[in-house]
This record gives sequence, structure tokens and C-alpha cells, in this order.
Amino acid sequence: MTATGLSSLGPAHPDHADYGAGELIVCDRLVRIYTAEGIEVQALQGLDLLVSEGELTALVGASGSGKSTLMNILAGLDTPTAGAVRVAGNDLATMTPRQRLLYRRSVVGFIWQQTARNLLPYLTAFGNVELPLRLAGTRRPARRARAGELLDLLGVAHCAARRPDQMSGGEQQRVAIGVALANSPAVLLADEPTGELDSATAATVFGALQAANAALGVTVLVVTHDPAVSSMVRRVVAIRDGRTSTETLRHGTEAGGGHAVEYAVLDRAGRLQLPREMTESLGMRDRVRLEQEPDHIGVWPDAGARAAGPGGAAGAAGGEREQDDLAGGDQ
Ligand SMILES: Nc1ncnc2c1ncn2[C@@H]1O[C@H](COP(=O)(O)OP(=O)(O)O)[C@@H](O)[C@H]1O
Ligand SMILES: [Mg+2]
Repeated sequence: MTATGLSSLGPAHPDHADYGAGELIVCDRLVRIYTAEGIEVQALQGLDLLVSEGELTALVGASGSGKSTLMNILAGLDTPTAGAVRVAGNDLATMTPRQRLLYRRSVVGFIWQQTARNLLPYLTAFGNVELPLRLAGTRRPARRARAGELLDLLGVAHCAARRPDQMSGGEQQRVAIGVALANSPAVLLADEPTGELDSATAATVFGALQAANAALGVTVLVVTHDPAVSSMVRRVVAIRDGRTSTETLRHGTEAGGGHAVEYAVLDRAGRLQLPREMTESLGMRDRVRLEQEPDHIGVWPDAGARAAGPGGAAGAAGGEREQDDLAGGDQ
């Protein structure tokens, strides 16, 4: 299973066979390498992520950081090059094509950024939501009841008899959430579902995702570029260079309330990424000095390198430094 050249990565956490036990989504040192015309692109570089059942989590990160690659793997549309990935007990790296099909039909629901890709143009909103139920063999009365309930929950009951071209972009995306939820999946995956929408409309789509999460208990993972989202979800995970780098958790009860605290992700090899804003403003690069205190670890710039370095002016250094890793006891 491990491709040539990846042996240095080793098996996924042999020392942590129970990593993520009890979690709904477990990504364990996930690697995805694309090879196009002899050039390798490492879209995921050992990504770790745990998501508990019932969570509503936003994934953010620069374009090209690997968000869609991760979503496609979780959706069962793509397979990792190395590492382990489990969703609701399904091992996505080793599924047969038949298991994969069943997985896509019943365990995950997926919403694309492109509104036109989510709905069949010649069916009404009601017909679109009913379709997956029909394919699953659900009987007519149950189908109609479920479709009606979902459109209602997502605030698009008024669109029931409309075809996609008779709905706004936001309405189409909310109906798309209904389609994705029809067969009661454990996980709802949405890859920039509001990427084509203005911010006011985007808020209604997030509202629908929140409603689905709250009313149905479905676990939601949503990729977004919208900074307003961070105030609407409890947990925001940032991906950088194919790995989870920081997490922002909102403490307090309701979304929108409480205060947000940013955390760096510490992987099980002891590595963490320091946010570039922090390292750049202090002129940290190449190496930093660590000092253990009773209740924390201090990180200081390497004073010698700073004096000798090519200028401490902000922005002069680090432009092409993608990672500021602290390596700690790797392997
Ligand atoms: N099918 C593919 N073939 C080759 N490279 C790809 C493919 N899909 C994505 N990539 C590359 O992988 C990296 C991550 O892409 P992606 O997951 O789409 O990022 P994001 O969704 O965060 O913008 C990028 O460098 C992208 O160019
Ligand atoms: Mg993407």
C-alpha cells in the first residue's frame, strides 16, 4: 500500500493503534501525493484531524493548502497515498468499490461549491431532495414526508415546486443541503458551499448548516473562505501546506457568543506550526530557542541569527518560507 519513496513516513502511528478511538472522523498522518507529468505535488503532508460526532467544524486555509483534497478523501471520491482515514468506522483507504458506493450513498452527504453541480436542473427542489430517497428504495409516503421536513428545516419550503433556475444561489445551496441530508448521513461535507455567494446569502446557507447540525445531530465539516464563519461555528481548523496548523475554539454556549481562543495543533511527534504572523514579527526563522517553564514553554528568536541575518525588517524574510516547524522527537 505504501508507495515507493514514502517508506520514510512509516506506517500511520504504529504506536497509537487506538488513535482517535471513539471519534467519528479520524485522519491519521494522511498523505496524498498527486503525480502529474512527472511532477509530484504533496497535497496532504501527514494531516491529523479528529472530529467528534455532532460537531460543526469549519476548515479554513489558503488556496492550494489541501482542503478539497481532504474533503474528496472523506467523501470517498479519492483515496490517500498513505496514512489512515476512518469515518463512522469505515476504513476509507481499504474499501472495495462496492463498499465505497454504499458509503457515498448512506454515510456521507456532499455539497459542492458550484450550485449547478448539486441539483438536477429538470427536477423541482422537492424532486431533487426526493431522488436519493427513491434510489435508496424509500417508499413514497416516507419519501414525501422526509423531503417536506428537510425543505422546511432549511428554510426553503417556499421553493418546493421550483426548479433550480427559478431559485437564488442561496436557495439552491440550501436545497442541496437537503439532498445531501436525505438519506440521514452521519457526516455532511461541504466544500466552499458559499464560494459563489455574497456574504448576506452565505449567512443563510450557514444558518441552514447550523440548523441541520442542531436539529438532526449530523456532524458537519465545512470548508470556507468566509471570515464571518468563525463567529458562527465553535471550532475552526486551519490547514496549511497539507497539515492542520491551528485551531480556534469558541468557548461559551451559543455560536456567536463567548470568546475565541487560537490553539496550535501539536501532533504526536511533538511538532507544531507557529503562526507566520507571530514568527515574522519577532524575526524568527530557521531555529528558535526553547525554554521550559513550570507551566509553559517559552519560544525565543535565535539572537545570533537575527543579528547576522539579512535584515530584521518585517516582510523581508520568510516570504517563501512555507513552514516554521518545531521538530520535536520525530519518529
Ligand atoms: N488532481 C490533481 N492533480 C494534481 N495536483 C492536484 C490535483 N488536485 C489538487 N492538486 C494540487 O494539490 C494541492 C492542494 O489542492 P486542493 O486540495 O484543491 O487545495 P484547496 O482546496 O485548499 O485550494 C494544490 O497544489 C493543487 O494544485
Ligand atoms: Mg478547494
